[in-house]
Amino acid sequence: MSPQVDPFVEHFRASAQYIHAHRGRTFVIMFGGEAVASKDLRTLLFDVALLHSLGVRIVLVAGARPQIDDALARRGEEPRFEGELRVTDDVALECVKEAVGTTRVELEALLSMGLPNSPMAGARLRVATGNFVTAQPVGVVDGVDYQYTGKPRRVDAEAIRQRLDDGAIVVLTPIGYSATGEAFNISSHEVAAATAIALGADKLIGLLEGQGVLDAEGVLSSQLTPQQAEQLLHSGRDLGHDVERHLAAAIQACRGGVPRAHLVSRQRDGSLLRELFTRDGVGTLVTSEAFEGVRPAAQNDVGGILALIEPLEEQGILVRRPREMLENDIDRFTVIERDGMVVACAALYAYPDDSIAELACLVVHPDYRTSGRGDQLLQYLERQSRAQGLRRLFVLTTQTSHWFRERGFDTCDLSELPAARRSLYDQGRRSKTLLKPLD
Ligand SMILES: CC(C)(COP(=O)(O)OP(=O)(O)OC[C@H]1O[C@@H](n2cnc3c(N)ncnc32)[C@H](O)[C@@H]1OP(=O)(O)O)[C@@H](O)C(=O)NCCC(=O)NCCS
Repeated sequence: MSPQVDPFVEHFRASAQYIHAHRGRTFVIMFGGEAVASKDLRTLLFDVALLHSLGVRIVLVAGARPQIDDALARRGEEPRFEGELRVTDDVALECVKEAVGTTRVELEALLSMGLPNSPMAGARLRVATGNFVTAQPVGVVDGVDYQYTGKPRRVDAEAIRQRLDDGAIVVLTPIGYSATGEAFNISSHEVAAATAIALGADKLIGLLEGQGVLDAEGVLSSQLTPQQAEQLLHSGRDLGHDVERHLAAAIQACRGGVPRAHLVSRQRDGSLLRELFTRDGVGTLVTSEAFEGVRPAAQNDVGGILALIEPLEEQGILVRRPREMLENDIDRFTVIERDGMVVACAALYAYPDDSIAELACLVVHPDYRTSGRGDQLLQYLERQSRAQGLRRLFVLTTQTSHWFRERGFDTCDLSELPAARRSLYDQGRRSKTLLKPLD
């Protein structure tokens, strides 16, 4: 076989496992009216069509906030909001119907496109819309009558499932109907979360307008538990309405049993595909599943980490790290906590100038091994490295090289490590150096 691997072939092969994993799964994809108005809508829908052709069952939930505001402006009216919530009076409801109708037609038209020179050539997609969401009025809250602003009361999951079984892409809009025969304006994020829960969807995916969910330092948060997402939402930091609404929907969906919610910036071309078909993704994964208990270490974890690593230092598996060193480096550590006890840890030492990081001190307590925690930490740190713009991870190991090789690391020469790290290499230990590209 030729040693030169074509990057296209390599990427295509690497996505095979995801194609297999996503087939037959149900994804609810939500995006705002800004995405509908954008010139990139076509590309987004091409990617949706591609997912559909790979056997993913898709429900699209499109917002219409700017379109509703435009319709109001055309009538010389100002939008009225109380906090985050629109007050929908008679005129506003007319505007909602107009905006939602237009949005729906636009999506249906683009999803019907089968031009020979487009990526959807010959796709012949079926689109289903309908009265799937029953609404109830928000009513009067703190003396404010929200009139035709509603919230989801029930989602007809059975009817949606039938359309999906039939091979259609289901399109939902921020509108619901009441048992009294009235239409109500519902936030598209609430529609999306309620639908994902009712369907038992595998994923809720939110396409964000800005750069994504950023931490206090402006770095993309690569993964959050619903609890961490909740803390972020109530941290008092201004995250922007778009991020806040998406985060709230992600938390609601996860708590309602949806295993994973992905929040991805739609600004980068193909971000939906990157998030779904690469191991590390490009957005923020909100899940209580895999990363529950994984968190950055704090000073009071030093004792727990020492208890974990000291036996391995005795055996020569790990380099000795005195307590003071751990205390200084604690910000670099991530731990998995279970019942108040640190059961696993790992450290990440980044060399941003070289776009590389060292993964060090990866340890799982012997009682908790072989149940995926090592993998869980590795995946967590890979996502984090990627979010920091790093391109490669390396590790030095004496007895665990196979574990790393089975996870995409390859032996490399010492000269490939950053100069600052090379100079610290302990010739006596004769550790093996392994490297993994993160793209
Ligand atoms: C390596 C380690 C972190 C893996 O943790 P874990 O939670 O058991 O990992 P996972 O559950 O994700 O993977 C377990 C698999 O790795 C295998 N494995 C464990 N140690 C291994 C080693 N040294 N070499 C090769 N494979 C190994 C297990 O046999 C198991 O394989 P199986 O699923 O085929 O049975 C853990 O064994 C450990 O703490 N080892 C001691 C510390 C160490 O060597 N750290 C690396 C130096 S930086």
